Amino acid sequence: MKYFIANWKTNKTLQLSIEWMQTFLENYVPNENKKIIICPPFPFISKLNEMISQSAHVYIGSQDISVYEQGTYTGEVSALNLSGIIKYTIIGHSERSLHMHESTDISFQKSKLAHKYGFVQFYCIKNENDPYPPYVEFVCYEAIDAISTGDGKGNNKPLKIIIGLKRKLALQPNTKFIYGGSVNENNCKEYFNSPEIDGFLIGGASLNPQRFLAIINS
Ligand code: PGA
Repeated sequence: MKYFIANWKTNKTLQLSIEWMQTFLENYVPNENKKIIICPPFPFISKLNEMISQSAHVYIGSQDISVYEQGTYTGEVSALNLSGIIKYTIIGHSERSLHMHESTDISFQKSKLAHKYGFVQFYCIKNENDPYPPYVEFVCYEAIDAISTGDGKGNNKPLKIIIGLKRKLALQPNTKFIYGGSVNENNCKEYFNSPEIDGFLIGGASLNPQRFLAIINS
């Protein structure tokens, strides 16, 4: 099984996200060995959930959840708010620490909430020294210097380096390993063929449905 997680970050309007999904669904061929999780900005989640309701192996997830569960936290979107709507979430993306100065402690608190609400979480780490909660099903390695500036064409890591890092993590046998950082339609084949990598967190190259499909079909 390979997992393809699209991280749209802070891109698109509702209309553009609908158009993306229309194009995607017109060209998408379900495959029981491939799971696709699309993480749009929060406001588009419900509409996209409706659109994929008849499609096999495609899911909508969130890019983050609040560190708070509920209460007087204006503007926050919590695991409680999202429960019953999504079942996948990204936790601890490096851009949360880079731009929002969130610490590992905050990521762990979010992770606990995601766990409490039964979400499957893609827990992100930046290097082999980053801790991760022991119960997470997916650890996503995305080196900050490999993340693109939005076009999916940055400094992606050579497979050898990624596998070396994975070995250092000494993951439990049932913990899956995801790579993110400038994965695109040109470099994905090398990654895809490696049994060491269970899936991909794709930012820039997921913004275009044809590019995202090319990665899935590689
Ligand atoms: P990128 O983003 O594919 O644009 O490098 C990856 C990520 O940040 O998840």
